[in-house]
Amino acid sequence: MKLNENYRNLKQSYLFAETAHRTNAYIEAHPDQKVIRLGIGDVTLPLAQSVVQAMQEAAAEMGKAETFRGYGPEQGYAFLREAIRDYYARNGVAIDADEVFITDGAKSDTGNITDLFDQDNVILVPDPVYPVYVDTNTMNGRKIIYADANKENDFLPMPDPSVHADIIYICSPNNPTGAAYNKDQLKAWVDYALANEALLLYDSAYECFVGQEGLPRSIFQIPGAKKCAIEFCSLSKTAGFTGTRCGYTIVPKELVFAASDGTEMSVRQMWLRRQTTKFNGVSYIIQRGAAAVFTEEGMAECRKNIEYYKENAKIIADTFTELGINFYGGINSPYIWFECPFGMESWAFFDYMLEKIQVVGTPGAGFGANGTNYFRLTSFGSRENTVEAMSRFLKMMAEA
Ligand code: MLT
Repeated sequence: MKLNENYRNLKQSYLFAETAHRTNAYIEAHPDQKVIRLGIGDVTLPLAQSVVQAMQEAAAEMGKAETFRGYGPEQGYAFLREAIRDYYARNGVAIDADEVFITDGAKSDTGNITDLFDQDNVILVPDPVYPVYVDTNTMNGRKIIYADANKENDFLPMPDPSVHADIIYICSPNNPTGAAYNKDQLKAWVDYALANEALLLYDSAYECFVGQEGLPRSIFQIPGAKKCAIEFCSLSKTAGFTGTRCGYTIVPKELVFAASDGTEMSVRQMWLRRQTTKFNGVSYIIQRGAAAVFTEEGMAECRKNIEYYKENAKIIADTFTELGINFYGGINSPYIWFECPFGMESWAFFDYMLEKIQVVGTPGAGFGANGTNYFRLTSFGSRENTVEAMSRFLKMMAEA
């Protein structure tokens, strides 16, 4: 028996496991302190009432012989895939319901999709980046190259025609920086992918936070993208499903690549084959709840929650503006990415904040080398905690 020794190339622990470990150790040593967590992007508002009601009704159906359901379709129930198709149509994007795959979230799918690709592909990720893209390819022993995202390019790296990549990860609005690409910038990535016969893996998990007129919410708003992109989205942030788990992946039928013998292979067919083999679908009850998100009433309730988080983001952003701290995001994104004060390194600043004001964030270094002197706060906390965290932050800066 031989182990997959690529695991030796991973960091010792997953970023959010490490921050949780340090936080829990602090809480254990200081049980009287009130620690405020603005680290991992986990929602705090409850599910929308129409979602809960749909789940309750679905649970009741499962308790009656006439309406009980066993295994569901691996790709997801048609009622949910069609609701997502219609949601895209309302945003001006035409997709077919059979291009939609229902899953337990974007984290799983951005990792699982790597099953479809040869080990020799060169993977391009921005730095800083959501660690799942890097870790899952490291597990498979792939070569990873980085596109620097930094102050100079407003954390929105653009393609370099002199660099060849086969698979490119893009997250917009971005986790962790909150920066969002405009249509022209995304078109440059689509053009690069088409010219290089490369594939874009587009994570749109934060699309519901886009507020600025004209900013794209889907890669499929860009002409040509159906020939070179897969889109991953999640209800975690759109509808508070971080614990409930439901997301979707869109694999266009036009996405076809030539195999080594020249045979054309449909990526959608491969993904369907993979999912029907390794996945038994998301539970009926959850899918009914997810479908309620896309109703008029469900959408209105979810929008209200998103506006609440956006107001939190503004409270954080206003504090940094007042302090003259350089920050990104917070407008089309639930994340605020800022330069660590006092020129500190981000893990040192993590410990400093925890120690001084008992506020937890996420160190930029955990997302890549370009995050070394940056820090991320989330707006997914409660209003009360966000306000208190910012008043503690102001006090910390005043006393420094
Ligand atoms: C984050 O904090 O970056 C996200 O919550 C992680 C995730 O969605 O998996």
